Amino acid sequence: MRIDRILIVDDDDELRRMLVDYLTSQGYTALGMRSVQQAQEALHTDSFDLVLSDLRLQDGNGLDFLRQVKQVAPKTYGILMTGYATMDTAVEAIRIGLFDYLIKPILPAQLDLVLQRLESIRQLQSENSYLRQQQHTDSGGGGVVWGRSGLMQDILEMVKKVAQTHATVLIQGESGTGKEVVAHAIMRHSARHHMPFVKVNCAAVPDTLLESEFFGHEKGAFTGAVQRREGRFETANGGTLLLDEIAEIPLSLQVKLLRVLQEREFERVGGNKTIRVDVRLIASTNRDLQEAVRQGQFREDLFYRLNVIPINLPPLRLRGTDLDDLVEFFVAHFARKHGKVIQGVTPRGMDRLRAYRWPGNVRELQNTLERAVIMTGQEGPVEVPEFALPEKNGFGALNVADTLPTVDEMERKLIGCMLLQTNHNKTRAAQKLGISLRTLRNKLRIYRSDGLDTTRPEMWVG
Ligand SMILES: Nc1ncnc2c1ncn2[C@@H]1O[C@H](COP(=O)(O)OP(=O)(O)OP(=O)(O)O)[C@@H](O)[C@H]1O
Ligand SMILES: [Mg+2]
Repeated sequence: MRIDRILIVDDDDELRRMLVDYLTSQGYTALGMRSVQQAQEALHTDSFDLVLSDLRLQDGNGLDFLRQVKQVAPKTYGILMTGYATMDTAVEAIRIGLFDYLIKPILPAQLDLVLQRLESIRQLQSENSYLRQQQHTDSGGGGVVWGRSGLMQDILEMVKKVAQTHATVLIQGESGTGKEVVAHAIMRHSARHHMPFVKVNCAAVPDTLLESEFFGHEKGAFTGAVQRREGRFETANGGTLLLDEIAEIPLSLQVKLLRVLQEREFERVGGNKTIRVDVRLIASTNRDLQEAVRQGQFREDLFYRLNVIPINLPPLRLRGTDLDDLVEFFVAHFARKHGKVIQGVTPRGMDRLRAYRWPGNVRELQNTLERAVIMTGQEGPVEVPEFALPEKNGFGALNVADTLPTVDEMERKLIGCMLLQTNHNKTRAAQKLGISLRTLRNKLRIYRSDGLDTTRPEMWVG
């Protein structure tokens, strides 16, 4: 990571020109400004990797200016140049996060050393942030945040494992939990990643046309079939087919789908040629498919064929600290998209986000944060107004609409939710609950003796 653009602020004309000339001769793009005001203008119209500023300027103080630089452009490095080094300025320079301070007169060799050090540090930082990103986001680069909570990390492991097989996967989860995101991730981790990925939203296609959508039709097969058309199974041949909202397909078509799953073959509508395909099938639904089976709306045999590898996505309210990771990701993403310099969310905003129930899950979080970023000025942090979260719920992750038979059970849920929210940090969970760590430990021991798995609170809070 090379440093390129450098801003020099000094009212000593000779020194400033010397620095600019020297840096330019070394291949940098250097710009010299003689006052704070000029420098501020440059900062607003241009971006710099490094700003070197004199301490005493005619219209202001170099430290104050560098402090501004760090606020507007946190990734820009600042170096203070001063004729009189005092302990106070040194301490202040460190406090506001300056990279270094140089004592005048400044020699080119001194500058070389500082720049070398800066470039190697920059290299390290970018490697670190790359590694961090690799840990928390999908290596496929699709902008997926898996989060640090055990829940989603388990799902990522599962995704990688099933991707190596050709088995059918059934992804279930509430609306907006990321079922499609997971389906994509399976495809990307699989040997089929360079083959077609085809998606059919079963709820969006009218029942009468769904069969032709799946299997295609011959010319004249029905009114309106003026041409032969290839179905999605054929288009996906060699690749992956996602049947979204699988619960919505009519019973008559369920029989035909079952046959494809068993024999990997079918006929086009109105045709009699048997077509064989090699397709990895992923089905997804936000309905409880087993319940649909019980109600006679979904064939049991098809359910078992689809449910070879089930992946159940937890609702956002049970994902604990994943929320923080998603917030960080979306805020940065939307800040970039809308051209703003924003770092994070206010503490009050974060509290609101954590306390909300998120019925629309990640999609709702994403939309809320885009709105919040748009409403924020050019510089952050982002505030989340209370009205942005319509369905307030004082119990945070707990759904008070559930009928809770006993106080004990309610307490258990509350403790479980807190453990999830704090990513199993018992000390913090106890603090948030307003009980002592010892009380929390005692309660957990009782739960264990009741047969609960206290390492997986998600099993008993939902
Ligand atoms: N882990 C994640 N990281 C980043 N973005 C995510 C993640 N999960 C979901 N999203 C985003 O949230 C939105 C909803 O995700 P997706 O469409 O996969 O949900 P879904 O479960 O299929 O929802 P529905 O049931 O409504 O079809 C998408 O814009 C997606 O990009
Ligand atoms: Mg979906």
